[in-house]
Amino acid sequence: MTPSPTPLSTALPKYTRIAGTGSLLPERQVSNAELAIELAGRGVETSDDWIVERTGIRTRHFVAPGTVASDLAVGAARSAIEAAGCQAQDIDLIIVATSTPDMVFPSTACIVQQKLGIVGCPAFDLQAVCSGFVYALTVADAMIRSGSASRALVIGAEVFSRILDFNDRGTCVLFGDGAGAVVLAASDTPGLLATDLHADGRHVGLLCVPGSVAGGQVLGDPFVRMDGQGVFKLAVGVLEQAARAVLAKAGRTEADIDWLIPHQANIRIMQSTARKLKLGMDKVIVTVADHGNTSAASIPLALDVAVRSGRVNRGDTLLLEGVGGGFTWGAVLLDY
Ligand code: UT7
Repeated sequence: MTPSPTPLSTALPKYTRIAGTGSLLPERQVSNAELAIELAGRGVETSDDWIVERTGIRTRHFVAPGTVASDLAVGAARSAIEAAGCQAQDIDLIIVATSTPDMVFPSTACIVQQKLGIVGCPAFDLQAVCSGFVYALTVADAMIRSGSASRALVIGAEVFSRILDFNDRGTCVLFGDGAGAVVLAASDTPGLLATDLHADGRHVGLLCVPGSVAGGQVLGDPFVRMDGQGVFKLAVGVLEQAARAVLAKAGRTEADIDWLIPHQANIRIMQSTARKLKLGMDKVIVTVADHGNTSAASIPLALDVAVRSGRVNRGDTLLLEGVGGGFTWGAVLLDY
Protein backbone atom coordinates (compact mmCIF):
# COMPACT_ATOMS: atom_id res chain seq x y z
CA MET A 1 0.00 0.00 0.00
CA THR A 2 1.38 3.38 -0.94
CA PRO A 3 1.55 5.77 2.01
CA SER A 4 -0.94 8.62 1.79
CA PRO A 5 0.73 11.94 0.97
CA THR A 6 1.58 14.23 3.86
CA PRO A 7 -1.38 16.61 4.14
CA LEU A 8 -0.75 20.29 3.58
CA SER A 9 -0.61 22.15 6.89
CA THR A 10 -4.18 22.86 7.99
CA ALA A 11 -3.23 23.98 11.49
CA LEU A 12 -5.36 26.84 12.68
CA PRO A 13 -3.58 29.95 13.95
CA LYS A 14 -3.25 30.04 17.70
CA TYR A 15 -3.57 33.79 18.00
CA THR A 16 -4.46 37.01 16.27
CA ARG A 17 -2.26 40.08 16.56
CA ILE A 18 -2.78 43.75 15.86
CA ALA A 19 -0.57 44.26 12.80
CA GLY A 20 -1.27 47.99 12.41
CA THR A 21 -3.45 50.83 13.66
CA GLY A 22 -4.88 53.96 12.05
CA SER A 23 -7.37 56.74 12.70
CA LEU A 24 -8.99 59.78 11.18
CA LEU A 25 -10.59 62.81 12.79
CA PRO A 26 -12.64 65.38 10.88
CA GLU A 27 -10.83 68.69 10.38
CA ARG A 28 -13.36 70.85 12.22
CA GLN A 29 -12.63 71.08 15.93
CA VAL A 30 -15.26 72.59 18.22
CA SER A 31 -14.13 73.70 21.68
CA ASN A 32 -16.44 73.76 24.68
CA ALA A 33 -16.42 77.57 24.56
CA GLU A 34 -17.48 77.61 20.88
CA LEU A 35 -20.19 75.04 21.54
CA ALA A 36 -21.44 77.03 24.55
CA ILE A 37 -21.80 80.14 22.36
CA GLU A 38 -23.63 78.15 19.67
CA LEU A 39 -25.98 76.64 22.26
CA ALA A 40 -26.60 80.01 23.94
CA GLY A 41 -28.02 81.16 20.61
CA ARG A 42 -30.68 78.45 21.07
CA GLY A 43 -31.33 79.41 24.69
CA VAL A 44 -29.42 76.33 25.96
CA GLU A 45 -27.05 77.13 28.83
CA THR A 46 -23.74 75.33 29.34
CA SER A 47 -20.13 76.26 30.03
CA ASP A 48 -16.57 75.11 29.49
CA ASP A 49 -16.23 74.77 33.27
CA TRP A 50 -19.23 72.43 33.60
CA ILE A 51 -18.20 70.23 30.68
CA VAL A 52 -14.55 69.93 31.79
CA GLU A 53 -15.43 69.28 35.43
CA ARG A 54 -18.19 66.70 34.80
CA THR A 55 -16.66 64.91 31.78
CA GLY A 56 -13.03 65.91 31.08
CA ILE A 57 -13.98 66.93 27.52
CA ARG A 58 -12.38 70.13 26.17
CA THR A 59 -12.99 69.82 22.46
CA ARG A 60 -14.45 67.44 19.88
CA HIS A 61 -14.40 67.08 16.09
CA PHE A 62 -17.50 67.41 13.91
CA VAL A 63 -17.73 66.34 10.26
CA ALA A 64 -18.48 68.77 7.45
CA PRO A 65 -21.87 68.49 5.73
CA GLY A 66 -21.81 65.57 3.31
CA THR A 67 -19.10 63.58 5.12
CA VAL A 68 -20.34 60.14 6.17
CA ALA A 69 -19.06 57.40 8.47
CA SER A 70 -17.51 55.42 5.59
CA ASP A 71 -15.36 58.45 4.62
CA LEU A 72 -13.83 58.50 8.09
CA ALA A 73 -13.62 54.70 8.19
CA VAL A 74 -11.73 54.54 4.89
CA GLY A 75 -9.18 57.14 6.05
CA ALA A 76 -8.57 55.22 9.27
CA ALA A 77 -8.42 51.92 7.35
CA ARG A 78 -5.85 53.19 4.85
CA SER A 79 -3.48 54.27 7.62
CA ALA A 80 -3.97 50.97 9.51
CA ILE A 81 -3.24 49.00 6.31
CA GLU A 82 -0.12 51.06 5.71
CA ALA A 83 1.03 50.57 9.31
CA ALA A 84 0.47 46.83 8.94
CA GLY A 85 2.73 46.81 5.88
CA CYS A 86 0.14 45.14 3.66
CA GLN A 87 -2.14 46.07 0.77
CA ALA A 88 -5.91 46.57 0.75
CA GLN A 89 -6.10 43.44 -1.44
CA ASP A 90 -4.63 41.36 1.42
CA ILE A 91 -7.67 42.07 3.61
CA ASP A 92 -10.08 39.12 3.74
CA LEU A 93 -12.62 40.33 6.32
CA ILE A 94 -14.08 43.78 7.06
CA ILE A 95 -16.09 44.59 10.18
CA VAL A 96 -17.29 48.12 10.86
CA ALA A 97 -18.63 48.91 14.33
CA THR A 98 -20.96 51.88 14.02
CA SER A 99 -24.27 53.27 15.24
CA THR A 100 -24.24 55.99 12.58
CA PRO A 101 -24.07 54.04 9.29
CA ASP A 102 -24.15 55.82 5.91
CA MET A 103 -27.43 54.15 5.00
CA VAL A 104 -30.06 51.94 6.60
CA PHE A 105 -28.57 49.33 4.28
CA PRO A 106 -26.28 48.12 2.79
CA SER A 107 -23.75 48.00 5.57
CA THR A 108 -21.10 50.70 5.93
CA ALA A 109 -18.58 47.84 5.73
CA CYS A 110 -19.68 47.08 2.14
CA ILE A 111 -19.31 50.78 1.27
CA VAL A 112 -15.84 50.81 2.84
CA GLN A 113 -14.96 47.66 0.90
CA GLN A 114 -15.99 49.33 -2.37
CA LYS A 115 -14.08 52.55 -1.56
CA LEU A 116 -10.95 50.51 -0.78
CA GLY A 117 -11.29 48.60 -4.06
CA ILE A 118 -11.57 45.21 -2.38
CA VAL A 119 -13.86 42.59 -3.95
CA GLY A 120 -15.25 39.40 -2.52
CA CYS A 121 -14.27 39.20 1.15
CA PRO A 122 -17.04 39.16 3.78
CA ALA A 123 -17.97 42.63 5.07
CA PHE A 124 -20.56 43.51 7.68
CA ASP A 125 -21.46 46.08 10.32
CA LEU A 126 -21.63 45.31 13.98
CA GLN A 127 -24.01 47.24 16.19
CA ALA A 128 -23.10 47.35 19.87
CA VAL A 129 -22.97 51.16 20.24
CA CYS A 130 -19.96 52.24 22.36
CA SER A 131 -18.96 48.59 22.96
CA GLY A 132 -18.90 48.02 19.20
CA PHE A 133 -15.13 47.93 18.80
CA VAL A 134 -14.48 45.34 21.52
CA TYR A 135 -17.36 43.27 20.12
CA ALA A 136 -15.91 43.55 16.59
CA LEU A 137 -12.39 42.63 17.73
CA THR A 138 -13.79 39.57 19.49
CA VAL A 139 -15.73 38.44 16.39
CA ALA A 140 -12.75 39.01 14.08
CA ASP A 141 -10.45 37.13 16.49
CA ALA A 142 -12.84 34.15 16.51
CA MET A 143 -13.14 34.16 12.70
CA ILE A 144 -9.37 34.27 12.26
CA ARG A 145 -8.70 31.53 14.78
CA SER A 146 -11.37 29.33 13.17
CA GLY A 147 -9.70 29.73 9.77
CA SER A 148 -12.43 31.88 8.14
CA ALA A 149 -10.09 34.84 7.64
CA SER A 150 -6.41 35.64 8.00
CA ARG A 151 -6.18 39.44 7.82
CA ALA A 152 -9.15 41.41 9.13
CA LEU A 153 -9.86 45.11 9.00
CA VAL A 154 -11.73 46.08 12.17
CA ILE A 155 -13.02 49.64 12.25
CA GLY A 156 -14.98 51.85 14.63
CA ALA A 157 -16.46 54.86 12.79
CA GLU A 158 -19.03 57.38 13.93
CA VAL A 159 -20.68 60.65 12.93
CA PHE A 160 -22.57 61.19 16.17
CA SER A 161 -22.96 64.91 15.42
CA ARG A 162 -25.76 63.82 13.01
CA ILE A 163 -27.86 62.33 15.81
CA LEU A 164 -27.37 64.96 18.52
CA ASP A 165 -30.21 67.15 19.73
CA PHE A 166 -28.52 70.53 20.19
CA ASN A 167 -31.39 71.56 22.46
CA ASP A 168 -30.46 68.80 24.94
CA ARG A 169 -27.41 69.94 26.91
CA GLY A 170 -27.30 66.61 28.77
CA THR A 171 -26.12 64.85 25.58
CA CYS A 172 -25.01 67.29 22.86
CA VAL A 173 -21.86 68.42 24.69
CA LEU A 174 -20.62 64.84 25.11
CA PHE A 175 -20.16 63.33 21.66
CA GLY A 176 -17.86 63.80 18.67
CA ASP A 177 -17.07 62.27 15.27
CA GLY A 178 -14.08 60.13 14.21
CA ALA A 179 -12.82 56.72 13.20
CA GLY A 180 -10.16 54.28 14.31
CA ALA A 181 -9.08 51.01 12.72
CA VAL A 182 -6.80 48.04 13.21
CA VAL A 183 -5.56 45.30 10.91
CA LEU A 184 -5.78 42.02 12.80
CA ALA A 185 -3.64 39.17 11.50
CA ALA A 186 -3.30 35.44 12.19
CA SER A 187 -0.22 34.75 14.30
CA ASP A 188 1.55 31.97 16.16
CA THR A 189 2.60 34.36 18.92
CA PRO A 190 0.24 36.31 21.24
CA GLY A 191 -1.83 38.30 20.40
CA LEU A 192 -5.27 38.68 21.77
CA LEU A 193 -5.20 36.80 25.06
CA ALA A 194 -8.79 36.91 26.29
CA THR A 195 -12.11 38.56 25.51
CA ASP A 196 -15.27 39.01 27.55
CA LEU A 197 -18.56 40.36 26.14
CA HIS A 198 -21.92 41.04 27.77
CA ALA A 199 -25.29 42.66 27.18
CA ASP A 200 -28.31 43.35 29.36
CA GLY A 201 -31.35 44.31 27.29
CA ARG A 202 -33.32 45.26 30.40
CA HIS A 203 -31.58 48.64 30.05
CA VAL A 204 -32.49 49.37 26.41
CA GLY A 205 -34.04 52.72 27.36
CA LEU A 206 -31.02 54.06 29.30
CA LEU A 207 -29.15 55.11 26.15
CA CYS A 208 -30.86 54.96 22.78
CA VAL A 209 -31.99 56.64 19.58
CA PRO A 210 -35.64 55.59 19.78
CA GLY A 211 -36.73 56.50 16.22
CA SER A 212 -37.17 54.15 13.27
CA VAL A 213 -37.66 54.53 9.53
CA ALA A 214 -40.95 53.59 7.84
CA GLY A 215 -43.18 54.90 5.10
CA GLY A 216 -40.47 57.23 3.81
CA GLN A 217 -39.93 59.03 7.10
CA VAL A 218 -38.32 58.79 10.49
CA LEU A 219 -40.94 57.69 12.96
CA GLY A 220 -40.39 58.87 16.51
CA ASP A 221 -37.32 60.51 17.96
CA PRO A 222 -34.13 60.45 15.80
CA PHE A 223 -31.77 61.81 18.50
CA VAL A 224 -29.55 60.29 21.22
CA ARG A 225 -31.38 60.06 24.53
CA MET A 226 -29.51 59.13 27.68
CA ASP A 227 -30.06 58.75 31.39
CA GLY A 228 -26.51 59.93 32.14
CA GLN A 229 -26.47 59.01 35.81
CA GLY A 230 -28.01 55.60 35.15
CA VAL A 231 -25.35 54.86 32.52
CA PHE A 232 -22.59 56.17 34.78
CA LYS A 233 -23.56 53.90 37.69
CA LEU A 234 -23.82 50.77 35.54
CA ALA A 235 -20.61 51.57 33.65
CA VAL A 236 -18.33 51.78 36.69
CA GLY A 237 -19.52 48.38 37.94
CA VAL A 238 -19.40 46.40 34.70
CA LEU A 239 -16.03 47.78 33.57
CA GLU A 240 -14.37 46.42 36.69
CA GLN A 241 -16.09 43.02 36.25
CA ALA A 242 -15.06 42.74 32.57
CA ALA A 243 -11.47 43.71 33.39
CA ARG A 244 -11.23 41.05 36.10
CA ALA A 245 -12.83 38.47 33.80
CA VAL A 246 -10.27 38.86 30.99
CA LEU A 247 -7.37 38.91 33.44
CA ALA A 248 -8.62 35.68 35.03
CA LYS A 249 -9.19 34.01 31.63
CA ALA A 250 -5.65 34.93 30.54
CA GLY A 251 -4.07 33.97 33.89
CA ARG A 252 -2.76 37.50 34.38
CA THR A 253 -3.16 40.12 37.10
CA GLU A 254 -3.65 43.89 37.23
CA ALA A 255 0.12 44.21 37.68
CA ASP A 256 0.60 42.83 34.14
CA ILE A 257 -1.35 45.68 32.51
CA ASP A 258 0.94 48.19 30.81
CA TRP A 259 -1.90 50.33 29.41
CA LEU A 260 -5.62 50.59 30.08
CA ILE A 261 -7.38 51.91 26.96
CA PRO A 262 -10.99 52.41 28.00
CA HIS A 263 -13.96 53.78 26.08
CA GLN A 264 -13.58 57.54 26.20
CA ALA A 265 -16.91 58.78 27.59
CA ASN A 266 -16.07 60.47 30.85
CA ILE A 267 -12.77 60.98 32.68
CA ARG A 268 -14.50 60.23 35.99
CA ILE A 269 -15.51 56.74 34.78
CA MET A 270 -11.92 56.10 33.64
CA GLN A 271 -10.51 57.29 36.99
CA SER A 272 -12.92 55.03 38.85
CA THR A 273 -11.95 51.99 36.75
CA ALA A 274 -8.25 52.72 37.18
CA ARG A 275 -8.68 53.08 40.95
CA LYS A 276 -10.50 49.75 41.20
CA LEU A 277 -7.74 48.04 39.22
CA LYS A 278 -5.06 49.78 41.31
CA LEU A 279 -3.61 51.45 38.21
CA GLY A 280 -2.21 54.97 38.25
CA MET A 281 -3.70 57.37 35.72
CA ASP A 282 -0.25 57.39 34.10
CA LYS A 283 -1.18 53.91 32.81
CA VAL A 284 -4.45 55.03 31.25
CA ILE A 285 -4.66 56.34 27.68
CA VAL A 286 -6.95 59.39 27.83
CA THR A 287 -8.15 61.13 24.67
CA VAL A 288 -11.59 62.21 25.84
CA ALA A 289 -10.37 65.80 26.30
CA ASP A 290 -9.59 66.10 22.57
CA HIS A 291 -12.16 63.77 20.99
CA GLY A 292 -15.19 63.73 23.29
CA ASN A 293 -17.16 60.49 23.19
CA THR A 294 -16.86 59.01 19.69
CA SER A 295 -18.77 55.84 20.61
CA ALA A 296 -17.45 52.78 18.71
CA ALA A 297 -14.52 54.84 17.37
CA SER A 298 -13.20 55.92 20.76
CA ILE A 299 -11.06 52.88 21.65
CA PRO A 300 -9.32 52.40 18.27
CA LEU A 301 -8.80 56.17 18.07
CA ALA A 302 -7.19 56.22 21.51
CA LEU A 303 -5.10 53.14 20.63
CA ASP A 304 -3.81 54.74 17.43
CA VAL A 305 -2.98 58.01 19.19
CA ALA A 306 -1.10 56.04 21.85
CA VAL A 307 0.82 53.96 19.30
CA ARG A 308 1.77 56.93 17.12
CA SER A 309 2.86 59.02 20.12
CA GLY A 310 5.21 56.20 21.15
CA ARG A 311 3.49 55.39 24.44
CA VAL A 312 2.21 51.96 23.41
CA ASN A 313 5.01 49.73 22.14
CA ARG A 314 5.31 46.18 20.83
CA GLY A 315 5.13 43.67 23.68
CA ASP A 316 3.00 45.90 25.92
CA THR A 317 -0.05 44.31 27.53
CA LEU A 318 -3.19 46.32 26.78
CA LEU A 319 -6.62 46.17 28.38
CA LEU A 320 -9.31 47.59 26.07
CA GLU A 321 -12.75 48.16 27.59
CA GLY A 322 -16.03 49.33 26.11
CA VAL A 323 -19.46 50.11 27.57
CA GLY A 324 -22.60 51.65 26.16
CA GLY A 325 -26.11 51.40 24.79
CA GLY A 326 -27.85 48.06 24.86
CA PHE A 327 -26.74 47.92 27.66
CA THR A 328 -23.52 46.36 26.33
CA TRP A 329 -20.03 46.02 27.70
CA GLY A 330 -16.86 44.03 27.22
CA ALA A 331 -13.09 43.84 27.43
CA VAL A 332 -10.17 42.54 25.39
CA LEU A 333 -6.77 41.78 26.91
CA LEU A 334 -3.92 41.60 24.41
CA ASP A 335 -0.18 41.64 23.96
CA TYR A 336 0.44 44.34 21.39
O1 UT7 B 1 -20.86 56.26 25.67
C1 UT7 B 1 -21.69 55.48 26.44
C2 UT7 B 1 -21.42 55.65 27.83
N1 UT7 B 1 -21.88 56.95 28.27
C3 UT7 B 1 -21.44 57.40 29.41
O2 UT7 B 1 -20.64 56.73 29.99
C4 UT7 B 1 -22.04 58.65 29.99
C5 UT7 B 1 -22.21 58.43 31.46
N2 UT7 B 1 -22.74 59.59 32.18
C6 UT7 B 1 -22.01 60.70 32.34
O3 UT7 B 1 -20.91 60.81 31.86
C7 UT7 B 1 -22.59 61.78 33.23
O4 UT7 B 1 -23.74 61.30 33.90
C8 UT7 B 1 -22.95 63.08 32.47
C9 UT7 B 1 -21.69 63.75 32.03
C10 UT7 B 1 -23.82 62.74 31.28
C11 UT7 B 1 -23.69 64.02 33.40
O5 UT7 B 1 -22.93 64.29 34.56
P1 UT7 B 1 -23.62 64.22 36.00
O6 UT7 B 1 -22.59 64.58 36.96
O7 UT7 B 1 -24.25 62.87 36.11
O8 UT7 B 1 -24.68 65.38 35.92
P2 UT7 B 1 -26.26 65.30 36.08
O9 UT7 B 1 -26.88 64.66 34.89
O10 UT7 B 1 -26.58 64.78 37.43
O11 UT7 B 1 -26.61 66.83 36.07
C12 UT7 B 1 -26.18 67.71 37.12
C13 UT7 B 1 -26.69 69.09 36.81
C14 UT7 B 1 -28.16 69.16 36.46
O12 UT7 B 1 -28.68 70.37 36.98
P3 UT7 B 1 -29.51 70.40 38.36
O13 UT7 B 1 -30.66 69.49 38.13
O14 UT7 B 1 -28.55 69.91 39.39
O15 UT7 B 1 -29.86 71.84 38.48
C15 UT7 B 1 -28.18 69.22 34.97
O16 UT7 B 1 -29.33 69.86 34.46
O17 UT7 B 1 -26.00 69.60 35.66
C16 UT7 B 1 -26.96 70.05 34.69
N3 UT7 B 1 -26.40 69.83 33.36
C17 UT7 B 1 -25.65 70.76 32.73
N4 UT7 B 1 -25.22 71.99 33.11
C18 UT7 B 1 -24.43 72.65 32.25
C19 UT7 B 1 -26.53 68.77 32.55
N5 UT7 B 1 -25.87 68.96 31.41
C20 UT7 B 1 -25.31 70.18 31.50
C21 UT7 B 1 -24.49 70.96 30.64
N6 UT7 B 1 -24.08 72.17 31.06
N7 UT7 B 1 -24.09 70.51 29.43
